[in-house]
Amino acid sequence: MECSAGGHFPGQRLSGPQELLEGQVLHKRSCGNKLLFLELGAAQQPKNSMQLPASAQSREAIFSFEVYGTEVREVRKQVSVGDTVSCKGTWRSCGRILDVFSYSMLCRWADVGGGETFAAPDARKADEMGHGLANTKMPQSSNDCTIGGVPQPPPVPDSTARRRALCKFWMSNGICRRTQCNCYHPEGDDLKAARVRWRQEQLQRAASNAQPDDPHPKQEKKGHAARAAVFAEWLCEVFGDDILRGGVVDIAGGRGELAFELSVKRNIPCIVLDPRCPGADRPAPWNDWHVSRQQRAWLKSQFGLRSYSECQAHVLACPLRQCQVPVETAIEKARISMKKSSEASPEWEDLCSFRVVVGLHPDQATGGVIELAKELGRPFAVVPCCTFADEFPERHLEQRPVRTYADLIEWLQVTAGPATRKDFLRFFGKNLVLFSR
Ligand SMILES: C[S@@+](CC[C@H](N)C(=O)[O-])C[C@H]1O[C@@H](n2cnc3c(N)ncnc32)[C@H](O)[C@@H]1O
Repeated sequence: MECSAGGHFPGQRLSGPQELLEGQVLHKRSCGNKLLFLELGAAQQPKNSMQLPASAQSREAIFSFEVYGTEVREVRKQVSVGDTVSCKGTWRSCGRILDVFSYSMLCRWADVGGGETFAAPDARKADEMGHGLANTKMPQSSNDCTIGGVPQPPPVPDSTARRRALCKFWMSNGICRRTQCNCYHPEGDDLKAARVRWRQEQLQRAASNAQPDDPHPKQEKKGHAARAAVFAEWLCEVFGDDILRGGVVDIAGGRGELAFELSVKRNIPCIVLDPRCPGADRPAPWNDWHVSRQQRAWLKSQFGLRSYSECQAHVLACPLRQCQVPVETAIEKARISMKKSSEASPEWEDLCSFRVVVGLHPDQATGGVIELAKELGRPFAVVPCCTFADEFPERHLEQRPVRTYADLIEWLQVTAGPATRKDFLRFFGKNLVLFSR
């Protein structure tokens, strides 16, 4: 089936003839909802079947709002790495980038991959070995090439390598699978120095992303890893020990980092509700706690605990429980328990007596924090992060859908009611907290 999003706007760069580019999606990147980049190469087979020889170079298909004619989130959702697609569009003058008007799915990796995860060939190695990866008939290239309006630098000789931007994949994971990455991939001592520079740049970027009304100067902010500790401290300041000792429900608590800060460090009863929790669908102790390096160091410094199992036993003895449920189930259980219905179970009734509902970057459960707090008639504190606009199309502010982070904050405030307050936590990243007393 050919998918076309409604054509293009007048005045866009549509001068060339329409041509086809077919290939397997080796990599996929997007930039908001208006740009999607697919790197296409020759189709590979799953490991057990015969490998197709790699031939020419890989090419890039760009779905841009201006040319494709609509936002590209649907394409982003429909197309996965490993799928083979056919794109129709016009080539840019560099001959490597196709502006796409429409596309069709030729073959899904999910159908032919035999259950294997698709792994794109390591392009840097392939280049070194003298074969590229693509399979398309191409016009002969010229020089100018831009991606999403951003000029791409031509390949830079090694002597100028240090001036190139650092490759973010290389810096984060030590691997770069892009076929034509012009970024710098330092090694050895250069890599060590580059890592320091990279971290500084990341901190600067995080600082410059701070919200305009965030009062905390960057010198006072902690890194991402300390966010649970910062939030726990803030909860103690704002709600006070007496209330917190009545129990905290931590929605979407993940590995329980906030729960550790509250229960293990401060002896505050805490229950984590998250589909990632290890237990069953009833509140239960947290067996086999995964002790992080920092937690282990803390337990050693405070209690002289040396072995991993001693640390786990200590955590097990703390007032910390978990339950493997999404917040939606918890809301349902709370509703039943609050009605004192005969279906109510003692574990959930106990949870209903907890005093505060919290959520730190709770992803899709962000709205659920407020809903559960309302159901229980308790105060809440939530630190929202992502919007998940496509998963909650029913969320609206007057006539417009909730799409951005700012929309989400406004929508949560409206949903929670006029007594909702706002503060900022002292860490980099999404640090706005909405709460009620
Ligand atoms: C970004 S992580 C944050 C984890 C933790 N709060 C932290 O700050 O480290 C988001 C968590 O939300 C959980 N989550 C997603 N949807 C959820 C839902 N409907 N109900 C409960 N938890 C959910 C995920 O399992 C994941 O652990």
